[in-house]
Amino acid sequence: MEIKISPSLLSADFSCLRESLEDVQSAEMLHLDIMDGHFVPNITFGPCVIRKIRPYSDQIFDTHLMIEDPRKYVQDFVDAGSDYITIHAESHDDTEDMLRSLDVIRDAGAKTGLSINPATPWETIKGLIPELDMVLVMTVVPGFGGQGFMHEVVPKIREIRNYIDGEELLTEISVDGGVSTDTAPIVVEAGADILVAGSAIFRGDAKSNLNKLRESTII
Ligand code: DX5
Ligand code: ZN
Repeated sequence: MEIKISPSLLSADFSCLRESLEDVQSAEMLHLDIMDGHFVPNITFGPCVIRKIRPYSDQIFDTHLMIEDPRKYVQDFVDAGSDYITIHAESHDDTEDMLRSLDVIRDAGAKTGLSINPATPWETIKGLIPELDMVLVMTVVPGFGGQGFMHEVVPKIREIRNYIDGEELLTEISVDGGVSTDTAPIVVEAGADILVAGSAIFRGDAKSNLNKLRESTII
């Protein structure tokens, strides 16, 4: 199956975003990391940046909300042009709370994603996987680009893959954090459908890095 790549704009040079977008336009998706300085110790950008870049890309906008109280902002991010909205299990009280947020995402007209940190067992969200368009498995502790891939998360990717295949679900698995030409084959072998990559693409020549990353997914 064809692997999708979702370059994370966080590692791009923000002084020339349009050029960065052009460099990665052959990628299927564009990953937009939203951080609020509360849920994670870093602040990035908000819906106004997404709205500004939307006319310059026809890619699927894959918005990753690393924020507290994400439900409150879903509509703003969808209105700005997000196609997928991914929320974190860890920014919710319980399964009911997550279900409410997923409903809000769906009602706003976007695809649903649910993410889990490296320390969160996948069983926490097992019952919700049939409801999801995407599970986003973090292979770094969220907050910053350029961190090292956490190999200990790989069995979790494989277990989610087995569950999805066993139940014949269409939910896609995306993997985020430390994905490079070295780790992409491992992640693909474990069962990922979508690879998020920031520094591995935008550090250096983005166009050629993207091609190399794609080649590395052919295992
Ligand atoms: C981490 C973000 C990631 C990050 C990935 O908190 O969610 O999307 O930008 O960057 P790399 O690929 O450099 O680990
Ligand atoms: Zn991300």
